[in-house]
Amino acid sequence: MPYAIAIDGPAGAGKSTIAKILAKELSLIYVDTGALYRAVGYYVTTQGISPEDEAAVAASLEDVRVDLKYVNGEQRVFVNGEDVSGEIRTPAMSMAASRVSAIPAVRTFLLHTQRDIAANQSVVMDGRDIGTTILPDAKVKIFLTASPESRATRRFAELQEKGDPATYDEVLADMIKRDYDDSHREISPLRQAEDAVLVDTSGDTLEQSVARIKAVVAQQLEG
Ligand code: DC
Repeated sequence: MPYAIAIDGPAGAGKSTIAKILAKELSLIYVDTGALYRAVGYYVTTQGISPEDEAAVAASLEDVRVDLKYVNGEQRVFVNGEDVSGEIRTPAMSMAASRVSAIPAVRTFLLHTQRDIAANQSVVMDGRDIGTTILPDAKVKIFLTASPESRATRRFAELQEKGDPATYDEVLADMIKRDYDDSHREISPLRQAEDAVLVDTSGDTLEQSVARIKAVVAQQLEG
C-alpha cells in the first residue's frame, strides 16, 4: 500500500530541502506542490493576466496544462509542455503563486494533480494544505516552521547564490506578507493539521533539522 508523508509550513522553513533528503533515504517520490502554484502564477503572468484577477485567472485554466515529471530523480514542472522549473524560482513568481493560490478555481484545478500522484506511489509531499486537505489520511504529518528572521536568512542566502538582487529586508518583508496571505485566505489556509507534529527549526543546522524530522517520521511510521 502506498503511504504519504505530508510536510506543511510557511515559506523558508526548510520543507523542500528536508523533504528531498527524506525522500531519498526512504526511496519515496518527493512532490513539491508549491511548484504547481508557481507554474499557474507563471502562466497567467506571461499571458498578461493579473494574478489577482480572479475571474480572468479562473477562465485561463481552460487553456493550461500543468504536469510534474521526474527527470533523473528530480521533479520538473511543465506548463503546456514547456519546462518552467527555473523560471518559477524568482521572488516575483513566489508572490504570483501566493496570489493565485487564494483563488478557489486554482486550488480545485490542482487538487487532482496532487492526489493522483500520491494514489499509486509512496510520496513525501510538501506544501501548505497537504495534511489538512490534499492527503488528510497521510501516515505522517509534520508542520515545519521557524521564526520569520531565520526563514528569511535562509531564503536570502539561496537567492544570493543565484545572483538575485533582492535585499535581506525585501526578502523578510515578502516572507511576512506571503505568510500572512497564505494563512488568512478563505480556502485551505496554511494551518497545522490537528494530528500533525510541530517542528520548529529556528536556530537548527540542516543536519539537526533532518535528524529531528527523521525521528518523528520513524516514530509515526511505527505507531
Ligand atoms: O512552497 P512555495 O514557496 O513554492 O509556494 C509558493 C506559494 O504557493 C505559497 O506562497 C502558497 C502557495 N501554495 C499553496 O497555497 N499550497 C501548497 N500546497 C503549496 C504552495
